Amino acid sequence: MTVAIHFRLARRGARVVRTQVGIVGAGPAGLLLSHLLQLRGIDSVVLEIRSRDYVEQRVRAGVLEQGTVDTLVASGVGERLLREGMVHHGIELRFGGARHRIAFERLVPGRAITVYGQQEVVKDLIEALLKAGREVLFEVSDVTIRGADTARPQIGFTHRGRGLELDCDFVAGCDGFHGVSRDAIPPGVLRYFEKEYPFAWLGVLARVAPSSQELIYSSTDRGFALHSMRTPQVCRFYLQVRAREDIANWPDERVWSELKARLETVPGFTLATGPVLEKGVAAVRSFVAEPMQYGRLYLAGDAAHIVPPTGAKGLNLAVNDVRVLTEALSAWYRGGDTSLLEAYSATCLRRVWRAQHFSWWMTALMHRFDDYDEFDLRLQRSYQEYVARSEAAATSLAENYVGLSLS
Ligand code: APR
Ligand code: PHB
Repeated sequence: MTVAIHFRLARRGARVVRTQVGIVGAGPAGLLLSHLLQLRGIDSVVLEIRSRDYVEQRVRAGVLEQGTVDTLVASGVGERLLREGMVHHGIELRFGGARHRIAFERLVPGRAITVYGQQEVVKDLIEALLKAGREVLFEVSDVTIRGADTARPQIGFTHRGRGLELDCDFVAGCDGFHGVSRDAIPPGVLRYFEKEYPFAWLGVLARVAPSSQELIYSSTDRGFALHSMRTPQVCRFYLQVRAREDIANWPDERVWSELKARLETVPGFTLATGPVLEKGVAAVRSFVAEPMQYGRLYLAGDAAHIVPPTGAKGLNLAVNDVRVLTEALSAWYRGGDTSLLEAYSATCLRRVWRAQHFSWWMTALMHRFDDYDEFDLRLQRSYQEYVARSEAAATSLAENYVGLSLS
């Protein structure tokens, strides 16, 4: 019996609904997990507190590693991504009044990144899931996970005013940093590793053609700025601002004049401007919860780890987690093999920590820290020059940026 039929039963009055994997959260992690499981014949139900419209419009990062693109394409949700995604073979670092290109084609031959907005990935996944008859329940509330350490964990929730219960073999906590899954694990089980940074990122989406063919990471005395893009007509920009900065302090004119001041730092470069479509401030933090599992509750994506956005690794880590989890759950459903499930946390954490280091390193390389003295600033400039001049240092940046194969 399919899950869709179960929910039809629930609508007729049943309060407890059975599925194999209950998934909390319809971000990239939860949606992709449901999609990959469905391809293996494993039932799942996705529960999301927000509306479909909200998750499809939420602007996030947009850099996909090759491995992420391969996973999406191989699972049949890559058609629009291949058509509309912008393949980039390098990035530019800008500092000291000069441009320094990190040339992927020379440093890491055959590997590239694809620029494609995270909410586009989300739209493609929702469409594929609904077409396949999967249950993705939006606007649920009161989500609680019980019995994570038993063989039959349950997720209680409210949907359209009715209290319901999902009876599962496994629960996947894909509900992001502010979700409830981590808190369903008893105190003392998880160890947290955290770093707060003394600044935030102000993100801006604007209707304007890119002023550069590739992403520009610019380090200036005024702070960091990033020129990214979404389509040939829409760009994404970021500015380093004070931690917990109020967006009200950043009218559009100020955003543009600051972006110009931080990006027009090399001869001959002019930043084109246009109408601002969206803007907001996001915290910059590093966070890891270990282990990424308790009993039959598996954490994936931002629920388990956050990286500073400088290396654009967040979405790629989420995709890797659910790829590993899908393999592990498939092995269990095929013949009761628990070894991959037992290895889940350690397998994911190897990539998580590599990405943590890289994101922290790139953040330190490019940002202005208030407490830096002249000595620190000289060290930072020396390291920037080393990355620009040394083939070995540039290769290290490039191979981390396009994504290392670790599992
Ligand atoms: N119940 C159900 N859903 C919830 C709950 C809850 N209690 N709390 C949060 N959610 C939902 C959020 O509304 C969101 O849609 O879980 C989803 C989590 O999605 P993301 O935050 O996008 O996290 P994830 O899927 O792990 O994707 C990681 O997203 O934050 C970016 O930079 C990050 O690119 C990375 C990617
Ligand atoms: C983005 O396009 O949103 C983006 C690009 C690169 C980053 C972070 C975000 O490092």
